[in-house]
Amino acid sequence: MAAIVLIGAQWGDEGKGKATDLLGGSINWVVRYQGGNNAGHTVVLPSGETFALHLIPSGILTPGVQNVIGNGVVVDPGVLLTELGGLEDRDVDTTGLLISADAHLLMPYHVAIDKVTERFLGNKKIGTTGRGIGPCYQDKIARVGVRVADVLDEKILTQKVEAALELKNQILVKIYNRRALDPAQVVDEVLGQAEGFKHRIADTRLLLNQALERGETVLLEGSQGTLLDVDHGTYPYVTSSNPTAGGAAVGAGIGPNKITTVLGILKAYTTRVGSGPFPTELFDEWGAYLAKTGGEVGVTTGRARRCGWFDAVIARYATRVNGITDYFLTKLDVLSSIDTIPICVAYEVDGERIEDMPMTQTGFHHAKPIYEEMPGWWEDISQCKTFEELPQNAQNYILRLEELSGAHISCIGVGPGRDQTIVRRAIA
Ligand code: GDP
Ligand code: IMO
Ligand code: MG
Repeated sequence: MAAIVLIGAQWGDEGKGKATDLLGGSINWVVRYQGGNNAGHTVVLPSGETFALHLIPSGILTPGVQNVIGNGVVVDPGVLLTELGGLEDRDVDTTGLLISADAHLLMPYHVAIDKVTERFLGNKKIGTTGRGIGPCYQDKIARVGVRVADVLDEKILTQKVEAALELKNQILVKIYNRRALDPAQVVDEVLGQAEGFKHRIADTRLLLNQALERGETVLLEGSQGTLLDVDHGTYPYVTSSNPTAGGAAVGAGIGPNKITTVLGILKAYTTRVGSGPFPTELFDEWGAYLAKTGGEVGVTTGRARRCGWFDAVIARYATRVNGITDYFLTKLDVLSSIDTIPICVAYEVDGERIEDMPMTQTGFHHAKPIYEEMPGWWEDISQCKTFEELPQNAQNYILRLEELSGAHISCIGVGPGRDQTIVRRAIA
């Protein structure tokens, strides 16, 4: 009986898609447990084919793996059908994908409200992906959401959409000067879309628990990252769900005691998309160098990612709040050919050195990185297969990150491909 949670240890885009794909061959189930199509997970198959997944678990690319969109996810039905269609057009077998009856449906009014709210916030905006994620989770928590199972009962669906739009239309029209949405039209559209996914609706928490009882392995694929968590991240510059490991039990409907491994995905440097504090952010030529060499452009929105050096304060924090047992360090290859590589080991906050995350957001906004420098390496490491094959300085860099982060670095990414991974300790 084993459930593995795979989470982003920074601000997202650490390489969760690649890590999920790598583990695909040794697991039975892959489950998305939170977020929605704000995620963009890239998988590069051994054939060189590249896929970008938003709502569908990255396990869909491994034949034989059963994939689940869990109850904690918010599902935009239009995006779901487009993504399924895109995969099927490329001959990916999607028959195994199931959707929790309890997942919430992301409706057109959620997207509309996300966009107008951001515009209204002006320079205080969160920099959301504009996919309606926050407004959909707001409705879930306010108990006025529409769930996937509601498409099976037209009367209930109509009642819920009408009730939701009664208030939302007032907000859209009177506050934001936008057009009202017609409830009947919204219901018709959703019912039409439901024809394309109805057969996938299932009691996924029952199926996952039965699978665990049978001794099968379940991988819970997180989206976003620890610092984007609504409780543990850099609030309010966060997403509206719990990407951290604790969220996996809730978002999939399994007991936390089923989780045996928490795999943190950690980039060898740091990136962030959208607004919010980022202590190691670089505004000089090194920021531009990391962005260019690492190809740091958002998979979902095409926005440029902000870049900075590795931040060990954040990594230590991620280890702690997620209970990380193993790290997958990605994109080490991007750091080849740099003379000396700075690592942020602590912060200076208002004249004081601190080793851990400041207690307050004000403290985090004031945090200035304290760097230690490590000698770099010039060799091309993209074909290295073992830890020992890496240049000594690259090995030293990994060992220092491991020491500072407080968890074992078990896998090392040396390129985007599935095979470009060094496995020091097997995960599954
Ligand atoms: P995710 O959201 O965590 O799945 O990450 P993204 O897919 O948004 O961004 C990670 C990017 O880095 C993708 O373009 C991956 O193909 C790429 N990538 C992942 N691991 C490595 C690695 O070890 N080296 C290099 N060069 N690229 C990687
Ligand atoms: P993956 O799974 C990076 C960021 C947005 C914004 C904030 C809130 O690919 O790592 P939202 O639309 O969720 O309300 O936006 O969160 N964000 C991500 N940043 N990777 C992601 O997903 C993200 N999903 C949301 O840029 O700052
Ligand atoms: Mg991404």
